[in-house]
Amino acid sequence: MARLMKRCPMTKEGAQQLYAQWASCYTQDLQSWGYRTPALVAEAIASHWPSMAALKGDMLDLGCGTGALAHALASRGIQGSLVGLDLSSEMLRECRQKGLYDCVQAQDAQLPWPLGSAKLVCSAGVWGYIEHFPELYGNVAKHLVPGGFLVFSVKSEDWQQDARQVHSALLALGCMEEVPCIIQQEPYLPDHPDPAIHTGCIDVRTWRRFSDQPVMSE
Ligand SMILES: C[S@@+](CC[C@H](N)C(=O)[O-])C[C@H]1O[C@@H](n2cnc3c(N)ncnc32)[C@H](O)[C@@H]1O
Repeated sequence: MARLMKRCPMTKEGAQQLYAQWASCYTQDLQSWGYRTPALVAEAIASHWPSMAALKGDMLDLGCGTGALAHALASRGIQGSLVGLDLSSEMLRECRQKGLYDCVQAQDAQLPWPLGSAKLVCSAGVWGYIEHFPELYGNVAKHLVPGGFLVFSVKSEDWQQDARQVHSALLALGCMEEVPCIIQQEPYLPDHPDPAIHTGCIDVRTWRRFSDQPVMSE
């Protein structure tokens, strides 16, 4: 399968190394830089919660890190079985201490998951690390119950570059449709001291599985 992304995502080894070193002060650093991505993803989920709440299945946070998205969901009163999955055991160690997930699991999101069905798969700040989108989204769609949601953040400049291809990959699964999202774009890290890092905006995209037809393969 040809890679969809034009830019080069960080390798799995690079991400593991980065987060092993950063885990203990990641939450504090991101807070001090005005990081609102998990809050925006949680807001998008909250806006669809009336149709999501009644569905059966877990909620799965892909690349949960130290648990910022779980915190944002809880502060909006979103409750249910929440599973966190992340590549970095150091980030998961920090995450477990907060006790926000029913279960956290060390796992590369790009490999098949040993999980059951999900009414929600969500992800904040993980876009830049994922190399194999079609495989990942195919896997996501397989786990979603009919009516289940996929909600993820992207850097808007990356999205401008990749939107059409990712859109096509999701539509090609034959069971996913994009749903309008009410969330306005916001600056990525507005308080970061390096202007090269704080430029750009965060965008949230929402998709829904509309059918229980099998996911179409390539
Ligand atoms: C910027 S952090 C975001 C963490 C959290 N979602 C948040 O918003 O604070 C990116 C996270 O993605 C995880 N990650 C990167 N590549 C991954 C992969 N292939 N599978 C699972 N997790 C991955 C990293 O370990 C890291 O915890």
